[in-house]
Amino acid sequence: MYGSGSDIIRPVPRNVQETHLRLTGSGGANRVMEAEFKRLVMRSPFEVQVDKPKREGESTLLYPFDARTAWVAACYHRTSSRISWDLCSSSAVRLEPLFADLVPLLMADDRIPSGERLRFSVEVGSASDFEAAPLQLRGVVKNAIVEVLASRAMTAELDADTPEVVFVVRRVGTPEARRTVVGIDIGGGARHRRGARVAMGPAPFRETMAAQLIMLSRWDARTEPLIDPMAGGGTIPIEAAGLAAGAAIRRPVDLPISRLDAFQDLPIRTPDLFPGTVPRILALDADPERIPAMVGNLRAAGLTGTAHENSIVIATQDVRSLTPDYVHRMLPASRDMQPGVFCFNPPYGVRLGADQGAKKLLTLYSEMGRAFSRFSGWRAACFVANPHFIEAFGHTPAMTKPATNAELRGAFLVFDL
Ligand SMILES: C[S@@+](CC[C@H](N)C(=O)[O-])C[C@H]1O[C@@H](n2cnc3c(N)ncnc32)[C@H](O)[C@@H]1O
Repeated sequence: MYGSGSDIIRPVPRNVQETHLRLTGSGGANRVMEAEFKRLVMRSPFEVQVDKPKREGESTLLYPFDARTAWVAACYHRTSSRISWDLCSSSAVRLEPLFADLVPLLMADDRIPSGERLRFSVEVGSASDFEAAPLQLRGVVKNAIVEVLASRAMTAELDADTPEVVFVVRRVGTPEARRTVVGIDIGGGARHRRGARVAMGPAPFRETMAAQLIMLSRWDARTEPLIDPMAGGGTIPIEAAGLAAGAAIRRPVDLPISRLDAFQDLPIRTPDLFPGTVPRILALDADPERIPAMVGNLRAAGLTGTAHENSIVIATQDVRSLTPDYVHRMLPASRDMQPGVFCFNPPYGVRLGADQGAKKLLTLYSEMGRAFSRFSGWRAACFVANPHFIEAFGHTPAMTKPATNAELRGAFLVFDL
C-alpha cells in the first residue's frame, strides 16, 4: 500500500536476497564490537576500510559484505558471539510459505559451495516469534537446502558433528519489520569457544564478555599494565594478551570460508595484527587451588614459556592486601609505565547460594574498594551480577552498562580510581 509525500508506506518485501556480514553479540555489545572490528581491519593485511555498520537492535551490526573484512572478522574478532553472511530473508512466519520463499532464492545463489557433495548442518538462532517450533524451522531450512543441492546434482549430507558449512536461521529486525534470515555461519559457531580453555573454574567468565570488558576499560597495552586480581581460570588475562597482540582465534582452514569461493584468494595464515606489543599482565587469585587451572589455560593458549614470563605473571595473592609496591615487584616493567587498569569479575554470590555469606561478600567488595583506593590514577573495570556491589565497593562508576553473562544479568562497570 502506498501513500503520498513523506508518509509513503513501503510494503515489507516478502522474500529477498541478502548480502550483509552480520556480527551478533550479547545485549548492548554493538559499540564495543564496532570499535574492535575497526581496530582489527585497520591493522589487517588489506588496504581496506570498514564502512559504518547498520545497527539492528543493540546487539547486531550489519556491514556491506567484503570478503577481506569478513575474513578479518571470522579469524580475529573477539567480542562477537556469532558471525554470519546473510543469504536471503523472508517475512514468512509459517513453515510452508517460508519454504516457498527460500527455495527460489537459494537456487539462484552462487555463494552456496559447489562440488559433488556438501556436509552441512542448520542451526536456529533466536526465533521466538516464528509460528512453529525451532526444530520444525530447522527442518524446513534443511529441506530447502537439500532441494537446492539436489537441483545442482550434489549429494547433501546432514552432519551436525562435522559440517563443512553451517547454515543459520533466525528472526531478525525491528518490531515493525521482522524477517526470517538464512545465512552461512562463517565465524565457526559460538565464538566464546576459543578452543583453548582446558580447565574451568567454578564461575568461569565467557571469553566474549572478557574481551568486551577489556575493550570497555580502554586498556592501552603499550603503556599500561593490566591486573586481574581475581583471575580464577585466567579468562581475562588470556583475552587481554590476545587483544594486545591482535592474535587470531580461528584459522581459515577450520572455517567454512575455506569452502566458499569469495574467500579463495585470501591468506591461509593469520599472523598477529599487533606484533611486537609486549603486554604487562598480572593474574592473581587468593585461592592457591585456582592456580594450576590458570596455568593450564594459559599454556593451552600458548601464553607460557620464556617468551611470556615477564609479560604475564601469575601469583597467589589476596586482593585486599594489594599495593602499588607489590605490583611493581611482580611486574618490574610497570614502574616505567602509566597507571594501569584492573579488569575482573568478582564472586557474585549467586552461585554460592543465598545464605552462604552474602554479608561476607559485601565485606569483601568494600575491602576491595579500599585496596583499590591505593591505586590513584588507575581504572577498574568489572562485570558484576550483584546489585549491592557499587554501594559496598565505595567508588562511583564512570560507566555502567547492563549485560548478561551465561544467563546471569549484571552490568559492566568502569571506575576512575
Ligand atoms: C567469579 S570468579 C572469577 C572467574 C574468572 N574470571 C574466570 O574466568 O575463571 C572469582 C574469583 O575470585 C577469587 N577470589 C575470591 N576472593 C578473593 C580475594 N579476597 N582475593 C583474590 N581473589 C579472590 C576466587 O578464588 C575466584 O577464582
